[in-house]
Amino acid sequence: MHAFHYEQGTLCCEAVPLAVIAQAVGTPFYLYSYTAIRQQYLTLDQALQPIPHLICFAMKACSNQAILKVFIREGAGLDILTGGELYRALAAGADPHKLVYAGVGKSRAEITEALRSDVLLLNVESRQELEAIDAIAASLGKRARVALRVNPAVDPNTHPYIATGLKQSKFGIEIAQVRELAPMQANLPRIEIIGLHCHIGSQITQLSPLVEAAAKVAGLAQELQDAGLDIRYLDLGGGLGIPYQEEQLPALSDYAEAMRQVVAPLGYTLILEPGRALVGNAGALVTRVLYTKQNATRQFVVVDAAMNDLIRPSLYGSYHAILPVEEAQAGAEPMVVDVVGPVCESGDFLARDRPLPPAYPGDLLAVMSAGAYGFSMASNYNSRPLAPEVLVRGDEYFIIRERQTYADLIRGEKVPAFLEGA
Ligand code: LLP
Repeated sequence: MHAFHYEQGTLCCEAVPLAVIAQAVGTPFYLYSYTAIRQQYLTLDQALQPIPHLICFAMKACSNQAILKVFIREGAGLDILTGGELYRALAAGADPHKLVYAGVGKSRAEITEALRSDVLLLNVESRQELEAIDAIAASLGKRARVALRVNPAVDPNTHPYIATGLKQSKFGIEIAQVRELAPMQANLPRIEIIGLHCHIGSQITQLSPLVEAAAKVAGLAQELQDAGLDIRYLDLGGGLGIPYQEEQLPALSDYAEAMRQVVAPLGYTLILEPGRALVGNAGALVTRVLYTKQNATRQFVVVDAAMNDLIRPSLYGSYHAILPVEEAQAGAEPMVVDVVGPVCESGDFLARDRPLPPAYPGDLLAVMSAGAYGFSMASNYNSRPLAPEVLVRGDEYFIIRERQTYADLIRGEKVPAFLEGA
């Protein structure tokens, strides 16, 4: 489903004009389509129906309580990474038995919380972590269900910052080391290794690396099973990309089919941890033009959203399409502009060298494909309050996070007594 479309020249999310929301909540704001998110989940779930499976939405992509609820209500699990994400997941009513917990550096406190909450799987990334989990589980009088995170050394052909399954990556355990580690279970009485996990990267645009990694991990699982381990889960991570421009990407159903084919003959429960593919194109960041200006070489459109709201263009050089909320007049000549924010860095841009219809102060622009890793990576840099988030369903919209206030910015800060007074 296309969540965003023009209706009589004005951009709408489902049946709500973006301009109406802008009028009510101010700018910038994040906007998500309930129907589009739910539809993506159902498409994937449907395609996996033939085999036992669990879709754990990677909540790092978009962790608002309301968004988590969309998934939880459909029966999804969540992929979590920190104590903070565990807290958010439980607060949203997630079933702990549908939580998978990854992360290369889980603290003792985080492991303790995870075991107390009885999450489905701790995805373990090192020998020392495995030993720590065993000790903590013993102190709690619990057993820990564990999947070993395998680094399958497969190049996902994506931005280097988000490639996680390369030989040199910090993530996971090399295949040879997994073979050595698995028998340790015998000496770690609180550990039950019941799965293998891998996640090779994000914004992956072809199925072949995902299939190659899945096949390697599946082969290893069989080996471990033959050696006496009770493998029940294969967690093949997330990573499927989305089109940010017009590019052709594998469909969710083809991805599901490819993963299913690897796992089906083995009888394991397939876990997938998609983030971006479920929410990325269901969201946008809406911003207002403040000024335009021109110097000897460039035209600038200065908007009220900035790198603190959406860091992907600055951090990864990512492309996000930008649409005028009021459709351009027919025949309006596009201008090549840099769309920049108010933050005090030259790295603060949302688009560079972008042909856009002429923009004027007060115009609204929608920065598209911002549903994943948009708000969740936002910061208060330059003491900019975090933008509100809005969820649309049909012809209704709901504020699912209020705009931060200036008072929110200094909450928790303390001035020592010696600095008080004149
Ligand atoms: N599972 C694990 C263990 C992960 O580390 C990630 C993402 C996912 C699942 C979900 O991946 P997805 O399906 O969304 O590709 N900030 C970056 C993306 C970082 C991804 C980190 N890990 C960006 O804005 O492109």
